[in-house]
Amino acid sequence: MKEQILELLKQSGAKTVSGTFMANRLGISRAAVWKNIELLRKDGYQIDAVTNKGYLLVNAAEMIDPEKIESLLKTDVLARTLEYVREVDSTNNLAKERAKEGAPDGTLILADRQFAGKGRQGRGFYSPQRGGIYMSMILRPKMNAEKTPIITILAASAVCETLNVMFDLNAKIKWVNDIYVGRKKICGILTEAGYEVESAKLEYAVLGIGINLFFADFPEEINHVATCLQHHTARPIDINEIVAQVWNRFEAYYNKEDYSSALRYYRGASMVLGNTVQFEKNGETRDAVAEDIDADGSLIVRYRDGSSDTLRSGEVRIRLPESII
Ligand code: BTN
Repeated sequence: MKEQILELLKQSGAKTVSGTFMANRLGISRAAVWKNIELLRKDGYQIDAVTNKGYLLVNAAEMIDPEKIESLLKTDVLARTLEYVREVDSTNNLAKERAKEGAPDGTLILADRQFAGKGRQGRGFYSPQRGGIYMSMILRPKMNAEKTPIITILAASAVCETLNVMFDLNAKIKWVNDIYVGRKKICGILTEAGYEVESAKLEYAVLGIGINLFFADFPEEINHVATCLQHHTARPIDINEIVAQVWNRFEAYYNKEDYSSALRYYRGASMVLGNTVQFEKNGETRDAVAEDIDADGSLIVRYRDGSSDTLRSGEVRIRLPESII
């Protein structure tokens, strides 16, 4: 019953729906309508009661709506199978489970909230109730396992471009997988792979993307390094449109014979190129100038002695005049 009430609230968009109207329409009492509204609120929906008018679902554009996503998709394969859950430990974990069960290439898992969202290098990813987009894509690429890092590069380009085009931001990519606005992170990407035990062949990749959208009380330890889209735009934020546009762009990049257009975008939006970066190499902290990103997505750096190096994975910190990020 609560799903039907939710449907009526969604249909009316920014207009209120009276309790009497819903009661008559669904053949239940007004008290039952109220009880179901309470259940929906417990699920995390923000429903205002407007005196003498009825109920209003707060901003449907802030809620995942698989049908709306579907209507905006231009993809052939990606996100054509979609599973939406209210909450989950991590969409990457659920996607891996589904991949092992045989879910098709292009299956997308979305959640309103993650209670154990994962970041790189064993870190967490803060994912409060409807704070943003938490999604994981199951890919069954035909590429060799050593080529999979390019998936993260394509995804970073697709997300960064989507945010910049839709919201006229100046978002930048911090090699390899973070999107920043100014000096704060707005999006993180975590790609995990599953291999066939006997042949070590790549069976699937799970591409997880987390984008901070709405104001959230970031925990103390990340408050100075994290930001959200709402902080940088006055334009309305339609979560479903962002999801669809990310996968539309990603598929266009991913389906190409070569990845040069995605790499071109990636290089142009890079916040590391031309800057001095700091990283760990063989247990030592090194400084070098970031010079280029090669066709595999590796970072080419030059040390002060003139020699160059290729960083295939890991993390870099950027040395800026008055800070290091
Ligand atoms: C990072 O910042 O180090 C990567 C963060 C990746 C977060 C996304 S949110 C959706 C998906 N599920 C997870 O548990 N992590 C990724």
